[in-house]
Amino acid sequence: MDKNLVLGIDVGGTGIKGAIVDVKKGEFVSDKVKYKTPKESGPKAVLEVIKKMLKDLDWEGKYFGCGFPSIIKDGICCSAANIDKRWIGVDLGELFKRELGVSAHFSNDADLAALAEMRFGKGKGVMGKVLLVTLGTGIGSGLFMDQKLIPNSELGHLHYKKSIVEHYASNRARENKDLSWEEWGTELNKVLKYMSLILNPDLFLLGGGVSKKFDNYKEYLTIDTKIIPAKLLNNAGIIGAAMLAYEGGQ
Ligand code: BGC
Repeated sequence: MDKNLVLGIDVGGTGIKGAIVDVKKGEFVSDKVKYKTPKESGPKAVLEVIKKMLKDLDWEGKYFGCGFPSIIKDGICCSAANIDKRWIGVDLGELFKRELGVSAHFSNDADLAALAEMRFGKGKGVMGKVLLVTLGTGIGSGLFMDQKLIPNSELGHLHYKKSIVEHYASNRARENKDLSWEEWGTELNKVLKYMSLILNPDLFLLGGGVSKKFDNYKEYLTIDTKIIPAKLLNNAGIIGAAMLAYEGGQ
């Protein structure tokens, strides 16, 4: 198989998605396969889904890349907010090698979405400090300085009001609390202001499926920093995962 074609998988709190990606173009060359994240989302159940995915996509490559909704350090899963706590402490590469016989490369899902967006999307060629904020089940953050990733920024877990920012301004919070675009946009604006106070990015990119609906809430985003919706939407995490495996040692 052409070595530029690599499988990317994005494990999220709600769905597990994958596709084969042309890493030079940042485009899918297969269908996108999507499963619901199992309710009991521990290692065994998630591995079953990924096994199915490898089969669906006929993936016979020796490696693939995977985004995970956790802090990942040296391949070890260090946190678990929207996924089963039993992942914490697991050496992901080692587990996947043992169970699937394939080398898998792992990083935080938002870092990988940002990687793809910086290469192929709205961050292409942008220097300075760029912060991609993913708005999905949780809130993820991918921080880039002069096109270089600063991993595991994890800003969705900043303390805010009675808990953390993702409980107020994620897309899931919008849906679960049935917030109007104005209510949610106002909350998101406060959260972006808070992130700005800490990091002062030159540009915010908003990722996740809800970035498609930017027109519905852009008028409530009034902070000084420039904010634009990302281009790759829900595909960014998959593309970034494939890029990680391609670039990260294979
Ligand atoms: C996790 C992050 C992740 C984000 C988006 C958060 O709850 O802690 O690591 O990037 O959700 O999935």
